[in-house]
Amino acid sequence: MTAAEPEDGPCDPTAPEPPDGGFLGELSGVYREAIVCRRCELEKTRHRVVFGAGSSTASLMFVGEAPGAREDRLGAPFVGRSGALLDQMLDEIGRQRGDVFIANALKCRPPANRNPTRPELAACRPWLDAQVRLIRPRVIATLGNFATRLLTGSDAAISTVRGRPQQHTLGGHRVWIFPLYHPAAVLRNRALMTTMRTDFLALRALVEGAGLPR
Ligand code: URA
Repeated sequence: MTAAEPEDGPCDPTAPEPPDGGFLGELSGVYREAIVCRRCELEKTRHRVVFGAGSSTASLMFVGEAPGAREDRLGAPFVGRSGALLDQMLDEIGRQRGDVFIANALKCRPPANRNPTRPELAACRPWLDAQVRLIRPRVIATLGNFATRLLTGSDAAISTVRGRPQQHTLGGHRVWIFPLYHPAAVLRNRALMTTMRTDFLALRALVEGAGLPR
């Protein structure tokens, strides 16, 4: 199932501009390379590369699926309805976007929000690995099936792995991966909202108590 939002409305002109040069050190170099990426066919149809946004020293990172129409226009992740729900969940655990880093498995929008392909995910993976290596988050919350499968290396469905932290080595250091439902799935099925709230509370506890060797 794609993480496309239930409805794609017009772009929000008040949405945040993408970062430019706002990242620390080596991450800003990776950003400059990524925004002109030509590693896969998506470069032909994208408007903007959506590198990711937030704190370059965040202990909590979110990884979604791929930019949608608004993200593609604005160059920033999660600026539509899924983003509003993500903001609400962050607010409920006492955090803001600036406290975390938000990225996607794919940095460019697949046409018509179709599912990412394996070659696209493989071509884009080095950007995500570089982000993890440089930001060094303690916890990576994966949003939905694509990001979870990509980072855990398992085909398990999000409905069976959500809410349960797993330890992995990514970008050269140990991290907790914490799978969550994608906000777009919760927007489509409001009955998942209670689960998402419960999972965000568990995520906060994990981030506050996370003590993995680095
Ligand atoms: N869905 C995603 O997975 N990522 C975005 O940036 C927006 C919607």
